[in-house]
Amino acid sequence: MYLKVPVHDLEIGMYVVNTGLSRDDDPNLYSVEGLITSEAEIRAIKADGYQEVIIDMGRTIVRLHASVRQSEDSSHTFPTIETSAACGMSGQNQTSLSDELPKAEKALGEMLFFVREFTRDVRLGKQIDVSASGAIAEGVVDSVSRNSQAMLGLCKLKSFDEYTYTHSINVSVLAVVYGKCLGLSREQLRELGVSGMFHDIGKTAVPEQILNKPGKLTADEFEIMKTHPAKGRAMLFRIGDLSRDILDGVLHHHERHNGKGYPNSLTANQLGLFPKIIGMVDVYDALTSRRCYKQGMIPNKALSLMFGLRGEDFEAGHLDRFIKCLGIYPLGSFVRLDNGLRGFVVETVDNSPLRPKVKLFFDNAMRKITPEELDLSDYTTPAIIECLDPAMFDINPADYVFAT
Ligand SMILES: [Fe+2]
Repeated sequence: MYLKVPVHDLEIGMYVVNTGLSRDDDPNLYSVEGLITSEAEIRAIKADGYQEVIIDMGRTIVRLHASVRQSEDSSHTFPTIETSAACGMSGQNQTSLSDELPKAEKALGEMLFFVREFTRDVRLGKQIDVSASGAIAEGVVDSVSRNSQAMLGLCKLKSFDEYTYTHSINVSVLAVVYGKCLGLSREQLRELGVSGMFHDIGKTAVPEQILNKPGKLTADEFEIMKTHPAKGRAMLFRIGDLSRDILDGVLHHHERHNGKGYPNSLTANQLGLFPKIIGMVDVYDALTSRRCYKQGMIPNKALSLMFGLRGEDFEAGHLDRFIKCLGIYPLGSFVRLDNGLRGFVVETVDNSPLRPKVKLFFDNAMRKITPEELDLSDYTTPAIIECLDPAMFDINPADYVFAT
């Protein structure tokens, strides 16, 4: 479990994780991964002006103070899961996962090509044409409408090298998947997909040395970073006939529920639906993505961390529904059952978020077994007892989830 703690509560024995969040959201979040081993280290972190850290409880070897334990208690309890299927991810799937995968892969490939070309043209100052963006997003909406799991699995489990582009695509897909859970219309989903695709386009106007700076951004550098939503909105407004909702999603995706975001420090009641959705899925993707400077968090822990920020960074109702939408054990989660067997979640089940469909590949000692698919919702036992990090076992979920 991950926990955000103020720097003044930092102690020797706490394990700091690099979530990757500080680059966009908060330069005052210390994010050099590792165990805190000396008071000098803590003093240096404070002297550098950092205000918060995120610690991994699993690797922290010191007992927490009462104040920190209190926030720990409130941070990891997921919302009560209703048995209603109203917010189920898969709904009435029109196609099977295996039938949908090639179609989803084609739609994702088209979006990747479009985003890559579009971003390159923006950087080169070429004339930009956004007219194809709606059709590109429509391909995602079509696939998600038929079967959300294929698109979601591909975008989050396949590893692509180019984070800049794949992050935009992932945000677009996650936004559409969640929008479907909310029951938005096809037209709204299409616009949401476009907004997600373009949400960080303003970063093309931020100098590379700031975007890729390995250390803490100075206050001036962060001020420049904070211009990217407004620059993106202005860019899109100038070059295209995009709706106000799409532009709002781009402009306000770093605003936060408690008014501590940017660029306008808007609070929840001043924010429209698109910024709330894009902002939330943006963070989820950043947490779960692997970067050159950090491992990706496993989905279950990322959602747990976000739940710790419920009512602060994220509106409680939306976060609860997002967690229900993805499932407590999202597609691709590597899980251990109480009978010792281990495998991957290959399909979430609407009415049974704690008992998804899993495919088992390993025994308790990580020896390979004959793969077996098990719909846990059909039985009362076995049960999932924990989520594991596949990186710890040097295995890639995509090699297993999509195995036929
Ligand atoms: Fe951004």
